[in-house]
Amino acid sequence: MELETLNPCIINPMNDQPNRLVNPEPRPDDRLDQALRPRRLTELIGQDQVKENLSILIAAARQRSEPLDHVLFYGPPGLGKTTLAHVLSNEMGVNIKISSGPAIERAGDLAAILTNLHAGDILFIDEIHRLGRAVEEVLYPAMEDFALDIIIGKGPSARSIRLKLPRFTVIGATTRLALLTSPLRARFGAVYRLDFYDQRAMQEIVARGAGLLNIGADHGGVQEIARRARGTPRVGLRLLRRVRDYAQVRADGYISSTVAEEALNLLNVDPLGLDDVDRRVLFTIIEKYNGGPVGLNTIAASISEEPDTIMDVVEPYLLQLGFLDRTPQGRIATSRAYQHLGMVTPENQQQQRLL
Ligand SMILES: Nc1ncnc2c1ncn2[C@@H]1O[C@H](COP(=O)(O)OP(=O)(O)O)[C@@H](O)[C@H]1O
Ligand SMILES: [Mg+2]
Repeated sequence: MELETLNPCIINPMNDQPNRLVNPEPRPDDRLDQALRPRRLTELIGQDQVKENLSILIAAARQRSEPLDHVLFYGPPGLGKTTLAHVLSNEMGVNIKISSGPAIERAGDLAAILTNLHAGDILFIDEIHRLGRAVEEVLYPAMEDFALDIIIGKGPSARSIRLKLPRFTVIGATTRLALLTSPLRARFGAVYRLDFYDQRAMQEIVARGAGLLNIGADHGGVQEIARRARGTPRVGLRLLRRVRDYAQVRADGYISSTVAEEALNLLNVDPLGLDDVDRRVLFTIIEKYNGGPVGLNTIAASISEEPDTIMDVVEPYLLQLGFLDRTPQGRIATSRAYQHLGMVTPENQQQQRLL
């Protein structure tokens, strides 16, 4: 139902770890996932609370024969923000137009998009925290009053005229809620946070993907892939495809737990889904900075990565695992992180010294 045949799998040009297997941001080979995207609310796995809230939002809008309220999704990459936007358009039976913060460069670009919308349409703005100031100023009245203010002329004779827009819905997605300006945030009637998926939901997602792609896998194989997928559907489906390759070349094409384990070990994805980049971050904090606290920029510089990448892509999962603590002084590695890396925790070091 897309107005334009834009590929909804927008590749982030800022993604500076495109070759990283467990990077939750889209990679070119993820385009194949389009076919795996759930299309209806009932096909979505996990995120039960978000789903329930959305079903109420949809039913209420339908009963009043009104377009949906503006909706904002936030959370780490790969958890289903874009998928949910498409699901909402399918459930409401309306068109969806896809754009993103960095793609809408000037106020005029947004005005052109807005004037082409029809009543009820959804405008999906990915990475909405990256909209420019001038563009945001145009978006405020559009979202609030469904109006577009256009300035005609220059200098003292300039005047502004107001164009009426049809009632439409903005769905915003962001990985960084904190970077959204408060007036923009205030214009969303519904704000939902997406969380990492638990093991059970991840297993269902991997099993569903295997079914749709005709991949033979037993419960143990699915379990192993799900366990290493960082609670992130995009990563789970990507690991599934890589393990399938391994199974095809090194085994009989069937994914058992042993095959999955061997394949993922070979790909350097450890039993918790950590890879070299995660381990380097943890080792840096532990070995170079005595376990922290150490600032994000210092960590990033030590391992030659972008601070933004660490914050968006590496840190959320390490925080979720309880391997990192975020304090005002900087990041601290927890004793769990030491244990996972097979290192002696500072408390134990002290005890050993005392003995
Ligand atoms: N709840 C879910 N159930 C099943 N598959 C999902 C779910 N959420 C996401 N996916 C799959 O994960 C992939 C990434 O989701 P996407 O919506 O692109 O994430 P985001 O926009 O948050 O980065 C999609 O291709 C989709 O197939
Ligand atoms: Mg997305």
